[in-house]
Amino acid sequence: MAAAGGLTVLGGRHSRAGGENPWGLPTGNAANYGTVRPPSFARPLPIPPIKQPTRTGPGGDEIDLVLRPGTGQPLPGAATPILGFDGIWPGPTILATRGRPTLVTVRNELGEAANVHNHGHHAPAASDGHPLQTIKPGGSRLYTYPNNQTGGTYWYHDHTFGLTGAHLFRGLGALYIIRDPAEDALGLPTGEYDVPIMIQDRLFDAGNALEYTVDAGTTFTGVLGNTLCANGVHTPFFDVAARRYRFRFVNGANSRNLRLALGNGDPIVQIASDGSLLSAPVIQTSVELAPSERADCIIDFGHLQPGTSVVLRNLDPTWPELPDVLRFNVVRKESDGSRVPEHLAEVPRIPIGEAKKKHRRLRFQLADGKWTINGLRYDPARIDFRVKLGTTEIWEIENGEQTQMHPFHQHMVPFQVLDINGAPPPPAHLGWKDSVAIPPAGRARLIMRFYDYTGTYVFHCHKLEHEDHAMMLQQEIVA
Ligand code: C2O
Ligand code: CU
Ligand code: CU
Repeated sequence: MAAAGGLTVLGGRHSRAGGENPWGLPTGNAANYGTVRPPSFARPLPIPPIKQPTRTGPGGDEIDLVLRPGTGQPLPGAATPILGFDGIWPGPTILATRGRPTLVTVRNELGEAANVHNHGHHAPAASDGHPLQTIKPGGSRLYTYPNNQTGGTYWYHDHTFGLTGAHLFRGLGALYIIRDPAEDALGLPTGEYDVPIMIQDRLFDAGNALEYTVDAGTTFTGVLGNTLCANGVHTPFFDVAARRYRFRFVNGANSRNLRLALGNGDPIVQIASDGSLLSAPVIQTSVELAPSERADCIIDFGHLQPGTSVVLRNLDPTWPELPDVLRFNVVRKESDGSRVPEHLAEVPRIPIGEAKKKHRRLRFQLADGKWTINGLRYDPARIDFRVKLGTTEIWEIENGEQTQMHPFHQHMVPFQVLDINGAPPPPAHLGWKDSVAIPPAGRARLIMRFYDYTGTYVFHCHKLEHEDHAMMLQQEIVA
């Protein structure tokens, strides 16, 4: 539905009414969530294809990726126009190996500027997908990903200033997995038993076209949908054998929180948070994921009889509530050679004393009706502060908003959570993180080391309509 004076994306076109710039907050209230689409569990969960390298040489794997319009089939009936990496939603999964670089050449055939940010990647600034470093229509750009970081589940998405939300909503998101030989030796489920699942809520019009409306209401709450999709399909089913699986859950929603749980009450065993294994598995009845967070989870169907089904539920109360994600159908018995070791990885805690003097306070808040950090809105011409390469800092992130959380996301370096509202973080937050939910009116302290790269990197709220309008700042890492 079109927003008067707002930003509307319909039928593959973006328009900024009245030449509105991304610094200005839209007005009007046009989003219409309609009624929540009931689950169907009628179509299979698609697994995005693994992107094959064009060349593999001593310098790494070379990949050619194209940004182009395409179609998806999230709903029965008419196909849905999307913008996709290689024209599909989600885009192809990039598989990398720790220590071996991946060189991705991206050609933009979208007819509008766009770019690629590898979320959670420790990359040189020129390959980070800074909001102003976009690829012109018809142009291309080389992104170099060193893969010198913990193996795990990452994801890549567009990061165009002011349009990140619109672009991700229309399909520009995909997984990036770093394999680590040490992790492969653990005996966790692999191959067809290691399944990526990107979860996103969407809104469609009567003809199955995506409806993305930015107005005062959606800029405040973030864009929310009435239809939950897993790997680009509304409430699919996934046939499983009666054994253990590893699911890589990615919250790829623009602004929606998720709280995943199994309908039969079985536990979910989380083994990784964002891009790193936890030191030990964490058994949970539900797994909370803020936008952009990932959780790798083991679900054991081993005690279930073929013929049984288990619904993956979303218990998060965000309105409109979307309680069904997908359904697992146990279809056969099978022997299971996998295991979940009690010790998964070394995750040494950064000693607090390593942060010599820099304690930054960053307050995420609404100021004069605008999303700000320390009262500032993103200005690409302004460096908000400088950080010395090789130092360790503690950042205290405050949420000045009473009614909603802000998922804080830092580029380039991972962090560890020291505390949330003064209390130690939950066990599932004890790994390396790149995004964390700051609770309403709450605060969190994070510790991070700035290493390897200098240059300008952004950090922001990962509710993308907050980020686009413009709850984002930038730091320059200097030698
Ligand atoms: Cu996933 Cu700056 O973003
Ligand atoms: Cu990122
Ligand atoms: Cu926010």
